[in-house]
Amino acid sequence: MSTIKQLAPMRRLCFNHLLAVSVLLLAAALVQECTAQGGSSGGDHAPLVSPLAKDPATSLYTISIKDGSGPLVVDLAGPLVWSTCACASGHPTFPCRSAECDAANGFNWPQQGRQWQQGYDAGADGGDHYCTCTARPCDPVTRARCAAGDLTTFAMSANATDGRNALYPVSFQAVGACAPDWLLRSSSLPAGAAGVAGFGRAPLSLPSQLAVRRGFGRRFALCLPGVAIFGDTPIFLGSYPPDLITTIASTPLAANPRNGGYYLPVEAISVSWPNWNLATTRAALPPSALELDATTGRGGVTLSTVQRYTAMRSDVYRAFVQAFSETIGKPGFVKPMPAVPPFELCYDTFSLRHVRVLGWDVPLIRLELGAGASMNWTVDSGNSMVQAADRTLCLAVVEMAPEAEHAAAAPAVVIGGYQVEDNLLVFDEDTEVLQFSGLLWGSGATCSGFNFNAPQ
Ligand SMILES: *[C@@H]1O[C@H](CO)[C@@H](O)[C@H](O)[C@H]1NC(C)=O
Ligand SMILES: *[C@@H]1O[C@H](CO)[C@@H](O)[C@H](O)[C@H]1NC(C)=O
Repeated sequence: MSTIKQLAPMRRLCFNHLLAVSVLLLAAALVQECTAQGGSSGGDHAPLVSPLAKDPATSLYTISIKDGSGPLVVDLAGPLVWSTCACASGHPTFPCRSAECDAANGFNWPQQGRQWQQGYDAGADGGDHYCTCTARPCDPVTRARCAAGDLTTFAMSANATDGRNALYPVSFQAVGACAPDWLLRSSSLPAGAAGVAGFGRAPLSLPSQLAVRRGFGRRFALCLPGVAIFGDTPIFLGSYPPDLITTIASTPLAANPRNGGYYLPVEAISVSWPNWNLATTRAALPPSALELDATTGRGGVTLSTVQRYTAMRSDVYRAFVQAFSETIGKPGFVKPMPAVPPFELCYDTFSLRHVRVLGWDVPLIRLELGAGASMNWTVDSGNSMVQAADRTLCLAVVEMAPEAEHAAAAPAVVIGGYQVEDNLLVFDEDTEVLQFSGLLWGSGATCSGFNFNAPQ
């Protein structure tokens, strides 16, 4: 009994404190908004750069951008920024009837159930109560475990950049959702991570917010696991002298009305082995197997930073694995090894050649892109093969789990993080174009090659 008595006033204290802080911060935000509109500053439109890292335990990628906490997990298709909110320090909130609240709940994706929009209804008496906006942060890996949390703002900072160096620090606020501690703990995120930064097609994703706040285009670059760059800028990585933006390939991007993902117009998948003069083999996919159905949101080829390896729907997987297996078997000297789950096709490294720059001499995988692409997307061994056991090199592609395959808006292929490491990807939502470099090994540019030092 006595513990309950002691707890009750503390909780009220915290609530009062929160309310006070909210009011103060809202007032501060309003003042800031007014000065900005008064045109007191032309605004700093310089692009921003943040370091990325890969967590060895979970293989998830994190971005160091949030002040006073651990990094956030990069979720390429995610709609929101979320983190835990300490009650002790209070957090600002947004009213239910606000543009931010609409933005947080407005995307009509199937998983955004209406029950989470209770914030829209004011008091039952129709009175003018302050009602707090609630958003719905989800576990980025499964997207199944979600919670309700206040919409709030988080203090963040990054460096301005000219594409060559980090220039000067910039602080800003980003709107995001408070998540309960259990969501952070249960989401199999890296031990030190403080939450998630969604990079998807949604008004409150991190790139969307930065684009509006900084007045630069809706463009961002990811080079896993090294660097993220927001805004319209040339990009220099390492010793490779030219601006990569002007030299890398491009393809149109597609959107899925059912989620925030970025989709590629892949028409076919083929396997070839130019070093052994073998004819290209196309995976014998069922007709329209890779097509995105715009009404149901099913199918299509999308990119993910929270899935480790590329996952293919079983019809696509079977046809692809057959094409790869046939091609690698043709010269007759590559010795298969027992499967190492989750991988099926594995080979004895003693029977393979290692070529100096690009890794193992194995067949190349090609994603054949549709109209408008400047090149097909070639996946080199550094992105296609993984050393899964001693002397065992495996094709780093997995068959989609049945429950994932039958989920709403399930894609035909999810290209995983491993397949785009050490590739520069530049997403431009204004022009709906993705620029892609392919594997950078041997080019002199690397994802860890961004110069985070100030210019000399
Ligand atoms: C900005 O760059 C400097 C080095 O030039 C670094 O020390 C600092 O941590 C960076 N700030 C942010 C917010 O990334
Ligand atoms: C991609 O590959 C296919 C088949 O080889 C070819 O017909 C097509 O022209 C290629 N696309 C581009 C953009 O090079």
